[in-house]
Amino acid sequence: MSNVLCLYYSRSGKTKKAMEEIAQALDAELVELHDDVERSGWLGWLRCGMDSMRKTTQPLTAFETEMRLQDYKLVILGTPVWAGRCSSVMRTFLKAHGRKLERVAYVVTRGSDGKNEDVYDQMDLYTARPRLAAASLRSGSVGYTFWQEEFLRQVREVLSAN
Ligand SMILES: Cc1cc2nc3c(=O)[nH]c(=O)nc-3n(C[C@H](O)[C@H](O)[C@H](O)COP(=O)(O)O)c2cc1C
Repeated sequence: MSNVLCLYYSRSGKTKKAMEEIAQALDAELVELHDDVERSGWLGWLRCGMDSMRKTTQPLTAFETEMRLQDYKLVILGTPVWAGRCSSVMRTFLKAHGRKLERVAYVVTRGSDGKNEDVYDQMDLYTARPRLAAASLRSGSVGYTFWQEEFLRQVREVLSAN
């Protein structure tokens, strides 16, 4: 293991796939976040949009990591973009634990052409230090593999510098 933690939320599987690929490439620990809210179907979609716009958060279900969050060399956070923001599930995690994270990187997945890179700055508001690397991926897009590889290159550079 590389002392890297990949922690993510995924409603419909796209962030999950991206984070599984990244965790495998880095030999990293992979942990999925959930809350207790029904987020499937049309009503679930609506709920996600409302939660995101209002910045409302619901308690996370219990999750376990092998080490304390502050002890990882890098924590990579993966989230879908919801209404131009990070998912409310990731926001809940960041509110509770963000201040423990000095070395973070972000993977956001999105449905539109626009990269929604301002989500990175929004997430930085919760962490002890700003991100060291980030990627915005759109499933099925021509640039998906390129940007994922570029993210892995940035991460490897960060890891080798320390
Ligand atoms: C409630 C909701 C709001 C969304 N808002 C945006 C958005 O503002 N911009 C965008 O590019 N994609 C948006 N999407 C699309 C998702 O970000 C995209 O499909 C993502 O890859 C889904 O990841 P997941 O499969 O891991 O849940 C939204 C999806 C949902 C459910």
